[in-house]
Amino acid sequence: MIFECKSEAAGKPSGRPAEKRGSRAVSSGNIVGIVLAAGLGKRMKSKLHKVLHPVCGKPMVSHVLGALEGAGVRRIVVVVGHGAEEVRAALGGRAEFAMQERQLGTGHAVRAAEALLAGEEGLAVVACGDSPLLRAETLSGMIALHRERGAAATVLTAVVDDPGGLGRIVRGADGAVERIVEAKDASEEERNIREINAGTYVFDLRLLFEALARVKNENRQGEYYLTDVVSILREEGRPVLGYRAADPAEAFGVNDRAELAEAERLMRRRINREHMMNGVTIVDPETTYIDADVSIGRDTVVHPGTMLRGGTRIGEGCVIGPQCDITDSEVADGAAVRHSVLNGAVVGARTTVGPFAYLRPGTRLGEDVKIGDFVETKNAWIGDGSKVSHLAYVGDARIGRNVNFGCGAITVNYDGYSKSETIVEDDAFIGSNVNLVAPVRIGRGAFVVAGSTITKDVGEDDMAVARERQTNKPGYAKTLRARLIARKMNRT
Ligand code: UD1
Ligand code: CA
Repeated sequence: MIFECKSEAAGKPSGRPAEKRGSRAVSSGNIVGIVLAAGLGKRMKSKLHKVLHPVCGKPMVSHVLGALEGAGVRRIVVVVGHGAEEVRAALGGRAEFAMQERQLGTGHAVRAAEALLAGEEGLAVVACGDSPLLRAETLSGMIALHRERGAAATVLTAVVDDPGGLGRIVRGADGAVERIVEAKDASEEERNIREINAGTYVFDLRLLFEALARVKNENRQGEYYLTDVVSILREEGRPVLGYRAADPAEAFGVNDRAELAEAERLMRRRINREHMMNGVTIVDPETTYIDADVSIGRDTVVHPGTMLRGGTRIGEGCVIGPQCDITDSEVADGAAVRHSVLNGAVVGARTTVGPFAYLRPGTRLGEDVKIGDFVETKNAWIGDGSKVSHLAYVGDARIGRNVNFGCGAITVNYDGYSKSETIVEDDAFIGSNVNLVAPVRIGRGAFVVAGSTITKDVGEDDMAVARERQTNKPGYAKTLRARLIARKMNRT
C-alpha cells in the first residue's frame, strides 16, 4: 500500500463525516493538541523565551495555537520548561500547561502531557511552538487524510533544497514512510534525502502514548525522540502517512534570529498576498509590513514603507502611506493617511491625516476632518468637518464640529502636575498661535484672535483677544538702524 499523498490531492476537509474503519481514533471526532515549547532556544541568545518572540506582531507560539484552533482542536496542552511562567502568562486561558522539568527530547516532552490528557480519546495533533508558519488548512488536510485512511500517524513533510539538521523521511520501496532519522544519526545516504520532517504530526492519541512508552534514548544525542514513534508503529504493522506541505515554508522552524527574520519575511509575504487577493492594492509588498491580525477593506491602496500593526483596522477605499506607522488604530472608509504615526487612534470616514502627523492614544477624529502637517493629538476628540491644518498640539481636548484650529495653536493641558481639559464648541474659530490654557471652554461660534493666550472661558459667539495692543512708530526703523550701526563701529 502506498501512503504517500500530496496536500493538494487531499484538498480541504469536505465536511462529510469521516469514514469509519473500526479504529477508535476514526470513530471519535475528538482532537487534542500538544505544543512543544520546553526547549531553551539557546541560539536565540535572548532573555525572552524563544516561542514568545513575535512574528508579524504575535508570539510564534500564538500563531501555532491559532492554527490548531482553526483546525478544530478542542483542547491544547503546551509543554513548558524553561521560561514556563512567561509562556503561561502570554497564552493565558487559551491552553493548559504541562511541565517538562528536564528536556530529555521531543518524545519525553510529549509524555509530559500524558497525565493531563488521561481519559481523552481520538486524535492528538503534535506541533512545535517554534513553527509559526504552520496553517490551519494544512492541519485540517492532515486530519482529513488521517481519518480517511485510518492511519495511526500522519507526519507533515516538506521537500527542501537544504535539509540541514532536520529529520529525514525514510520511505520504503513501496513509498510508505518507514521511519524518521535525525540528521545526526543518519547515514551518508540518508542525509541526502531531501524530504524532511516538519515536526508536526497527527496521531491516534492512545497509540501515541503506547508507542512513546517504548521509545529509548539510544541515539547520538541520548534523547527520547518523538520521531521514533513512527518506526515503532510501523513495526506493529500500523499505517503511517506522510503529508507533504504544499508550501515548504510551513515546515520552517525558528532556532536563531536569522531564522526569525526569515519567518517574518515568509509570513509577511503570506499576509500581504492574502490582502491583495481580497482586493487591497499593495504598491510594494516588499516594503509593506502588516501584522497578522490587521484587517483592510477593499480598494484601499497601501503605499510603500508602511507598517500596520496590532489590531489595526482599515476601511474600504482608503489611501495609506507612503511611510505610515499605524498601531492599534481604526481608519474608516475613504480616509487618507500619509507619512504619519498613529497609535490607538480612530480616524473617521473621508478624513485626511498628514503628512507628518502624530496621533496618540485616545485620538478620535470624526468624518471629513483635516489633520495636516506637524500636528500632534492625544486624548482628543475632533468633530466632523473640523480642521487642524498645521503645526498644532491638541491634547486632552473635546473639539466640536466645523472648528478651525489655527496654525501653531496649542492646548496648554499640563501644569507639571496634572492634566486639564480644553473644550471648543462647534463652529468656533481658533486663530493662529493661540494658547488655550486648560481648563478652558470656548463657546459655540466664538472667535479667538490670533496670538491670544486664553485663560478664561469664551462665551458663545463672543470674540476673545488676549495680547498686547500694537504700536507703530513712524520712521523709527531708520533711526534705530543708524544707532545700531554706530554702536557696532565703536566696538571695532
Ligand atoms: C525535531 C525533530 C526533527 C524535525 C524538527 C523540525 C525530533 C527528535 N526531531 O528536531 O525530525 O525535523 O524537529 O523542526 O523530534 N522540545 C521540548 N522538550 C524537549 C526537546 C524539545 O519541549 O525535551 C521542544 C522544543 O522547544 C521545540 C521542539 O520541541 O519547540 C523541537 O525540538 P528541537 O530540539 O528543536 O528538535 P529538532 O532537533 O529541531
Ligand atoms: Ca527545531
